[in-house]
Amino acid sequence: RGPETYSPTGQLTGTAQKEVAQGGERLTTAQGTRLYDTNHSLKAGPRGPVLLQDHHLREKITHFDHERIPERVVHARGAAAHGVFQGYGSAARLSKAAFLGKDVETPVFVRFSTVLGSRGSADTVRDTRGFATKFYTSEGVFDLVGNNIPVFFIQDAIKFPDVIHAGKPHPDREIPQAQSAHDTFWDFVTLHTEATHHTLWNMSDRGIPRSYRMMEGFGVHTFRLVNADGGTTLVKFHWKPKLGVHSLVWEEAQITCGMDPDFHRRDLADAIEAGAFPQWELGVQTFPDTEEQMFEGIDLLDPTKIVPEELAPVQPIGLLTLNANPSNYFAETEQVAFHVGHLVPGIDVTNDPLLQGRLFSYLDTQISRLGGPNFAQLPINRTHIPVNDMLRDGMHQTAVHRGVAPYRPNSLDGGCPFLAGADTGAYIEVPAEVPAARKVREAPASFDDHFSQPRLFWLSMTPTEREHIAAAYTFELSKCWETAIKERALLVLANIDAELCAQVAAGLGLPAPEATVRPAAVEPSPALSQLGQTWPAD
Ligand code: HEM
Repeated sequence: RGPETYSPTGQLTGTAQKEVAQGGERLTTAQGTRLYDTNHSLKAGPRGPVLLQDHHLREKITHFDHERIPERVVHARGAAAHGVFQGYGSAARLSKAAFLGKDVETPVFVRFSTVLGSRGSADTVRDTRGFATKFYTSEGVFDLVGNNIPVFFIQDAIKFPDVIHAGKPHPDREIPQAQSAHDTFWDFVTLHTEATHHTLWNMSDRGIPRSYRMMEGFGVHTFRLVNADGGTTLVKFHWKPKLGVHSLVWEEAQITCGMDPDFHRRDLADAIEAGAFPQWELGVQTFPDTEEQMFEGIDLLDPTKIVPEELAPVQPIGLLTLNANPSNYFAETEQVAFHVGHLVPGIDVTNDPLLQGRLFSYLDTQISRLGGPNFAQLPINRTHIPVNDMLRDGMHQTAVHRGVAPYRPNSLDGGCPFLAGADTGAYIEVPAEVPAARKVREAPASFDDHFSQPRLFWLSMTPTEREHIAAAYTFELSKCWETAIKERALLVLANIDAELCAQVAAGLGLPAPEATVRPAAVEPSPALSQLGQTWPAD
């Protein structure tokens, strides 16, 4: 277990793959017994019945019968690549994480995905995209499990099953497969108006990226960085593509869905194969780690809010380059398991209630998706440094553990340095204050403003981008059966902007309602608009 099974870019080497199932020159059973014929079943005579005693036949078909594992409950369709992350060293004052050090190179595996469609769905649908990065650092695995949209639909993880049930195909007809155009989705996002901001981003050009190589990525939540002196800073992570941010127009997206449903995965794989390695800069917006965890009136624990870059510029801290395609989709892209709780010293979480729920969800779902608790032993998930844990047994255990005393301290397995000097290089949680409080279920009042930031986004768009947004709402809402849902959606739009509401209402042939909420006055943010981004000279 370790680096010898990987190429320098982190890709599985041929030997690692072959040593398990493809060693030697001759075809064998899984037990290594040589076969002389894999094309004919054992029968009682050339025209007779097939015999139950044909172990090779049964092993071959039984294995095939179980080739499929459950797809991810969300983000089922994805494409991935290996690469390297190089720290600039500029984050050293913020975080002691070794991989952020100057010129430190860390192998990474990045998986891009759509959220709602099944594994076989089309790539260029209107949806959020996942942007998940696994850093195999010298201090353990760090996962940055983000999206291409900087806000989320809900403020509390307890609603995650609900928003996904609303977004997935209707339970009766299993329609639609991968688009947000149906009654349950619009029912949910108009009744839970904290979803307005994310939905608006989905209806904008950001919902149909031109390429995975031309998408931004966002950690969404606020994280806490810790430096060598114990000083802490709150941050939001951003990935900025070197190729700029570009989208398809709706007609292109639709045609591409039909002509080439694999458009995005093909684009990524082809670019890497041709040596046009995509690159992103990792950056952080930084905020003082105050007791309130607010910045310029924005609640940093509310995952439906951004902090405009005009207020907190994104500071570059490293460069990601994707330079190798997976050699086996199943072993790598399908079996990779990301988790927001995979942290390294120097990076910690905050109390964002959405993030807190995610800390539970990923491990739980992966136990069922990957058939038990030992998926960290799969080559793609293994850290590149030695592991010495006390986890034992379980389904698909591949380690042969030594010793008799998997507990600490013990006096039988040669003792253990766990208690003495354990803090050297160990992950230590920031002893952040938990305010004395009574147990409550309600959210803070600062989570209540659902319309000011959608309005900020709308006002930041160019006329062309606004046209696309109005057309997207009109198209998607026109697919709803229930007039009451369309009317409620128009009310949500009226609370963002009267012009947007009027355009969509006209498209749907319904009256435009009056706003019921007055969003805060906001200044447009040029950084939110995609137009003005240029293609690189080469
Ligand atoms: C999968 C991002 C919220 C549960 C994923 C993946 C990404 C992602 C990128 C795909 C990982 C991969 O490529 O394998 C996000 C972001 C969120 C968010 C950015 C909000 C800011 C949540 C919440 C929950 C959740 C609130 C549950 C409470 C899951 C589950 C999977 C998943 C169960 C499937 C994991 C697997 O089977 O390996 N998420 N997610 N996510 N997410 Fe989230």
